[in-house]
Amino acid sequence: MQFTDILLHWYADNKRSLPWRGERDVYRVWVSEIILQQTRIQQGWDYYLRFIKAFPDVKALAEADEEQVLRVWQGLGYYSRARNMHAAAQSVMREHEGKFPSTYEQVRQLKGIGDYTAAAICAFAYGLPYPAVDGNVLRIISRVFGIHDNIADNSTRKDITSLCQKLMKNADPSDFNQALMDFGSLQCTPKNPDCEHCPMQGECYAFKHQQVDTLPVNIKRIQIKNRYFHYFVCINHDEIIIEKREKEDIWKGLYQLPMSETKSSKRLDYKLLYQTKHQLTHQTLHAFFYDTPDASTLPESAGQRLKIKVKDIDNYAFPKLIINFFNTLQ
Ligand code: ADE
Repeated sequence: MQFTDILLHWYADNKRSLPWRGERDVYRVWVSEIILQQTRIQQGWDYYLRFIKAFPDVKALAEADEEQVLRVWQGLGYYSRARNMHAAAQSVMREHEGKFPSTYEQVRQLKGIGDYTAAAICAFAYGLPYPAVDGNVLRIISRVFGIHDNIADNSTRKDITSLCQKLMKNADPSDFNQALMDFGSLQCTPKNPDCEHCPMQGECYAFKHQQVDTLPVNIKRIQIKNRYFHYFVCINHDEIIIEKREKEDIWKGLYQLPMSETKSSKRLDYKLLYQTKHQLTHQTLHAFFYDTPDASTLPESAGQRLKIKVKDIDNYAFPKLIINFFNTLQ
C-alpha cells in the first residue's frame, strides 16, 4: 500500500472525536482553526463551544464590540487572534456582502489567516484540495520520504506542500488533512513515536534507516535583528561629549557618542553628517550621526556623559563603528 492509503486506513481506525470534526460550516471551521493555532485540544474545545454560543455566525461576530469578543476569549492568550477575527468578520460583512469568501486566495487575504489556516478552512469547509502543512506534516513527510532538508526553510515547506498536493490527489481533502493532524499527534509524534505499532513502517524511510530520531532536520536560524542607533556629535573647539555604555547589551563598558535608539528606521530631525550600516553576528546596526554642536539640544540618555579633549580620544575604548566614524572626520 502507498502512503495515502495507509494514512487513511489508520485514520478510519484511530480518528479522534472532536466537536468540529465533520463540520462544514465555514464560520465554525474558521473559529476552530483560529482557536487551535496556539491552544491544546482540550482547552480549545471549551472555548470553541463558548465562542460559537456567544457569536453564532459571522454577522454576530462582526456586530459585537471588540471588548465583548475579548471577554469571551479571556484566558486563551494570544489576543491578537481574537482582534484579527473580529476585524476579518467585519471585512466579510463589508467586502463580501456577509458571505465568507470561497476561494483559497480570498480566504488567505483575511486578517489572521496564513497559508496553513487558509488550507485547513478550504479543505474542511469546501473540500478544496489544499494541504494544511504545519509542523506535524513537515515531520511526518520528512520521516516517511527521507527528506533531509531543513524544515525551517521556506523552500522545504514549499517542496513538502507540493508533495502533499500529489499525495492527496485521490483522497478527500478534509480526511487527508485531518488524518495527518491525528497521525502527527498520536502516532508519528516528535519524541518517542510509536514506530513499533505503526502501519507506515514498510514505507517509512526514517524507520528503515534508523533515522527517526534525526528527522526532521530542524535548524532554526537565529533571526538577524535590525537596530537603529542615532549618535549626536557634539564637538566644540577641542572638546567632545562622550558617554559610557552601561546597560546589559552589546558593547557594555565601552564609550560612544551620546546616543538614542529607535525602533523605526526613520531619521531624527537633526542635521545628518554621516550614515552607515554595521554588521554584527546577529544584529544589523543602522547608524546615523548628527551634527549637534549645542549640547542643550541633545536628547536625554541613560548613560553618564563626559566632556573630554578631542586629543584624548585614544584613552577611551570605542566600538569599531564609532572609530570608523572618527576616521571619516580625520
Ligand atoms: N489542529 C489544528 N486544527 C486541527 C483540527 N482541525 N483537528 C485537530 N487538531 C487540529
